[in-house]
Amino acid sequence: MLTALVVDDDPGFASALEDFIRAEGLSVTTVSTLEAARNAVRHTLPDILFVDLLLPDGSGLDFINTIDCDRTKIIIITAHPSIDSAVESLRARVFDFLIKPLDLQRLQECLWALKSVLHEHRLGTGWPSPSEAPETRANQFMVGESPAMQKVYDVMHKVAATDITVFLQGESGTGKELAAQAVHKLSPRHAGPFLAVNCGAISATLIGSELFGHERGSFTGANRQHKGFFERATSGTLFLDEITEMPPELQVQLLRVLETGKLLRVGGDREIPVDVRLVAATNRDPEEAVSQGKLREDLFYRLNVFPIRLPPLRERGGDITFLANYFLHLLNQQQGAQKRFTVAAIRKLALYSWPGNVRELRNAVQRAFILAHHDSQIDVIHIADPLEPKASSNGDPMRLSVGMPIGEAERRLILATLAHFEGNKPLTAETLGISLKTLYNRLKQYQED
Ligand SMILES: Nc1ncnc2c1ncn2[C@@H]1O[C@H](COP(=O)(O)OP(=O)(O)OP(=O)(O)O)[C@@H](O)[C@H]1O
Ligand SMILES: [Mg+2]
Repeated sequence: MLTALVVDDDPGFASALEDFIRAEGLSVTTVSTLEAARNAVRHTLPDILFVDLLLPDGSGLDFINTIDCDRTKIIIITAHPSIDSAVESLRARVFDFLIKPLDLQRLQECLWALKSVLHEHRLGTGWPSPSEAPETRANQFMVGESPAMQKVYDVMHKVAATDITVFLQGESGTGKELAAQAVHKLSPRHAGPFLAVNCGAISATLIGSELFGHERGSFTGANRQHKGFFERATSGTLFLDEITEMPPELQVQLLRVLETGKLLRVGGDREIPVDVRLVAATNRDPEEAVSQGKLREDLFYRLNVFPIRLPPLRERGGDITFLANYFLHLLNQQQGAQKRFTVAAIRKLALYSWPGNVRELRNAVQRAFILAHHDSQIDVIHIADPLEPKASSNGDPMRLSVGMPIGEAERRLILATLAHFEGNKPLTAETLGISLKTLYNRLKQYQED
């Protein structure tokens, strides 16, 4: 869990900030003096530091100078929109400025940007730390923390330790190839090769020799012996993508290899032991592929010993926001830019159904980034118009009875929308067309009722 430290002596402001950060899933500590802040960072640095400049026992600037800004992202809180020269000199060390009074939309945008920066640090840098549950280690390689993805990480992690064949299923663009690579990287075979074969892209006449190899002279043009993907992936992982596109007679051979652990090169008579972990994938419904005769039933049962279903993006709740900000962050890095999404833009993304899943989202972010060429904010107008809201954007239907008090109907609507956006208040308010302040007031009132 990401950690934040708030250093501010204005209790009302600090507690509003703290509530908001906590609702975003971070763990927060608040202190009101520099001395307490120094004590708080003595042993562990927070991921994010919010510092007010005017504190009872000195200036926040002095404190900031002692913090390693590569490790901790610093956000300055100031009541003065005109930033003076002392603060200006710190600009390079500071991630962002928050102006008092707190603008929650600004804060939300800032936190989104921060989370993707911090997440990117984690990818590929050996994070999460050993103290985190091993089940979550797969998120070193994939982005997304939704409950649906946590389940995927959990099973991926467990199966990675074994040599069992994995069958990845899921719509196009859900990340099957990424998941196959993650299984490999998490497995004891990670130092070996990872080879990917798209069974739909190789001609039916060649696929046999491509996979299993051939002996010299086994067919016209076979001038020399050739090792196939299975042999070249020895001690590693072979990813057979679009498995349903494999010609049926080869599916028989594949099944034999899986069952005996040995293969015959085309034109060969010597059985060669196979030392490969197999990951197969399809974006079709495999049972339908069986009934259409595209996937042999016996192979299906053999592969389906360990199926993993990659959930479509529309079932991944907050991951849409997370991934969008993550892809934006990558583009910002590549282009040396600092663009951010507005809350309204994120709302539009969050309400769309994403039939092309993560791939489509990635493309949409790229397009918006380009369209927002001269702007620092990516807004609704930059997001492609074909993005019609998903049919269920009216949410799950709610039951309202005739004669029900309006206040009660409003309460149900607000709470259901808040649940839909997983507690994200700015998105909820934006969607319902009410101000954030109104939303906060209503929620407070419901708590008191
Ligand atoms: N969880 C994720 N985190 C980061 N990037 C992702 C994630 N899932 C998918 N992507 C990205 O989305 C794109 C599509 O992913 P991928 O190629 O793995 O999908 P796929 O399920 O194999 O699709 P298809 O069925 O069309 O082959 C890639 O650019 C990939 O890096
Ligand atoms: Mg793929």
